[in-house]
Amino acid sequence: MLHFTASLPYDRRLASCDIRGSIAHVEMLADRSVINAEEAELIIKGLEEIRAEVQEGRFPYDLEFEDIHMNIEKRLIEKLGPLGGKLHTARSRNDQVTLDTHLYMKEEIRIIDQFLQQLQATIINLADRFEGVLIPGYTHLQRAQPVLLSHHLLAYFWMLVRDRERLAGVLVRTDLMPLGAGAIAGTGYDIDREQVAEKLSFSRLYENSIDAVSDRDYIIEFLSFSALLMMHLSRLCEELIMWSSAEFGFIELDDAYTTGSSMMPQKKNPDLAELARGKTGRVYGSLFSMLTVMKGLPLAYNKDMQEDKEGLFDTVDTLKNLLPILSEMLDTMSIDRVRLKEAVDDDYLCATDLADYLVRQGTNFRDAHYAVGEFIAFCRREGIRLRELDPEKRSRFHPALAGDIADLLDPVKVVNARCSRGGTAPSAVKKQLELARRLSGNQKKQQ
Ligand code: ARG
Repeated sequence: MLHFTASLPYDRRLASCDIRGSIAHVEMLADRSVINAEEAELIIKGLEEIRAEVQEGRFPYDLEFEDIHMNIEKRLIEKLGPLGGKLHTARSRNDQVTLDTHLYMKEEIRIIDQFLQQLQATIINLADRFEGVLIPGYTHLQRAQPVLLSHHLLAYFWMLVRDRERLAGVLVRTDLMPLGAGAIAGTGYDIDREQVAEKLSFSRLYENSIDAVSDRDYIIEFLSFSALLMMHLSRLCEELIMWSSAEFGFIELDDAYTTGSSMMPQKKNPDLAELARGKTGRVYGSLFSMLTVMKGLPLAYNKDMQEDKEGLFDTVDTLKNLLPILSEMLDTMSIDRVRLKEAVDDDYLCATDLADYLVRQGTNFRDAHYAVGEFIAFCRREGIRLRELDPEKRSRFHPALAGDIADLLDPVKVVNARCSRGGTAPSAVKKQLELARRLSGNQKKQQ
């Protein structure tokens, strides 16, 4: 029974938050004369000793006492005798556990946001470093149009902007102080919830005691933010995996972020990128697990809710482990400029521009699209580039194709022409980069 029901093996990571919460609670109890000042002082001293025991690995965890809250209280009673029993006045584990989780999450959200900011800065650096490099842009994983590599990478920057906005939203709704709700109904003791909130730097209080102990939205929202973030990172990693294959050969990842094969000497496996993609599955799992745990629960606290912790902690660990090394892997990757040049030299990628040219010559777009399609189909059968077919033969597909189309088939010129706002022309990407640079530094302030 104990092994099945205890949360101690994993909730011990809440120890320092639990002690912070308890100290604020005890100070408030003394201020309101629920206990006297001398008692409060002794209890706080005891809690601080316990904090040191935890930090120095000396704390005697005991599974008999189910969770970290009971373990700390039991230890306090060991130290202070019956006085230790006063700590839990006007409090329940139901409001205590969710207070601890709120405190924990507020800290972790700040750290994760810093990692995201760092990843954004890495992407901006790469966009700078690879200035002017072209790659094929893909739709349906078929070569579509040439784009700047910087432009492609910056797409991930903007995903992270939205991820950070979402995380800031999670923080707003995590910044709510539940203590004082008691087990469900509040308490008759003369407590001061505002004071506790202020001591613990919360901006707001839960206004309904039942909601305070029933709410796990903030955890689900964090998991939802994490699932979306991981989806973005997984797509990025999938591209890095493809790009580093012999078939693409666009990039090379630094040895520090790949592994060899135990059998095949030539192998360089992108393990970090693959695992990032793989771990996305478990983060989704934690989100679905929590949504499912909560869906049928009557108000207020139910023991089912103890299941909120492992998925949350695992997700926090996954993000904190992954984000910094992902930044490093990106920062140290190199590109194969020759391979990239070969890839964009494929002038079929300029088909859209040819069709647009015919439109400028007075053809409607559908007919232009058809003519260029025929032109390309012919060249594909012949195994030649568009620019290799002589003007006379080209004119069979459309008379205007007999003209000088060399510029239209030059990927650099094609890219330069896409100068609409948010487009891939160097002039547009320069503006995008400036905006990105300003935003990544300032995003926190704007929120
Ligand atoms: N370990 C419990 C949890 O994580 C703490 C709250 C227990 N409350 C209770 N009434 N059993 O949810």
